[in-house]
Amino acid sequence: MEFQFIIVEPDFQPHIALVRLYRPKELNALNLQLMLELKQALSALDENESVRCIIITGNEQAFAAGADIKQMESRTPVDLLKIDQFETWDQIRKTKKPIIAAVSGFCLGGGCELAMTCDMIIASESAKFGQPEIKLGIMPGAGGTQRLTRAVGKALAMEMVLTGRFLSAEGAQKAGLVNKVVPDEVYLDEAVKLAGEIALMSPIAVRLAKESVLKTYECSLQEGLHFERKNFYLCFASEDQKEGMKAFVEKRKPDFKGY
Ligand code: HXC
Repeated sequence: MEFQFIIVEPDFQPHIALVRLYRPKELNALNLQLMLELKQALSALDENESVRCIIITGNEQAFAAGADIKQMESRTPVDLLKIDQFETWDQIRKTKKPIIAAVSGFCLGGGCELAMTCDMIIASESAKFGQPEIKLGIMPGAGGTQRLTRAVGKALAMEMVLTGRFLSAEGAQKAGLVNKVVPDEVYLDEAVKLAGEIALMSPIAVRLAKESVLKTYECSLQEGLHFERKNFYLCFASEDQKEGMKAFVEKRKPDFKGY
């Protein structure tokens, strides 16, 4: 897959795809084309049977320092309406396979929103999270006020969104925004380790489980429990369920095939 602003390796590791945001000079600022490419890449990886987990990363200096301010500067509301960039973000959110954000350096604005759209975040010690849009006279627009608040709670989210203050990797972990913080040299390895564990599971169960966890954001407990139950029943339609339980009984490791 050839793109201008991202590098995609579908076979980075067995069953693990890597997507690298690649505008290093601009600290991976997310311009419209980059986001479009990301949408296309994720959609293709979602279709690719051999991929079971996706990692999105940047480089050591920046995951992404936000949406491209230079591209946004002269926009009018009507421009934004016509461009309808959030359609792209919505599609990214709908990726069925699990996505891990491997974050180092700046993870700001749209960058932080992109990381939060992923399912898990592995951070390097130097990672810095923030929603500094307020300093530009705007506010988060790609889920920052919603996902950050759900992740870290109202008090901290309010502080970050209203002052633009950054949160250190350690602070982000304490607040529940990231799964794990590791030294800068190994953040990608750590993400690969996590992805590798997920890739050993039944892709069907993983897909249904991801869908069920995300449902929490959208419905009452009762509706969520109902949704979970249906997905639980659906797991039993898979060969992988038979294999998983048979392997347990036979005291061996399961070999999940994804059907
Ligand atoms: C465009 C950006 C950029 C951005 C950095 N650059 N962030 N370009 N959009 N978001 C560019 C700089 O202009 C500069 O290019 C180069 O990257 C290096 O950045 P410096 O500022 O020189 O680096 P440094 O001094 O280390 O400061 C790093 C920084 C700072 C603290 C991250 O760059 C910064 O504050 N960036 C903006 C962060 C931000 O406000 N993000 C939110 C954007 S709004 P040149 O050509 O000058 O060398 C947003 C809304 C999302 O995300 C809405 C949904 C889509």
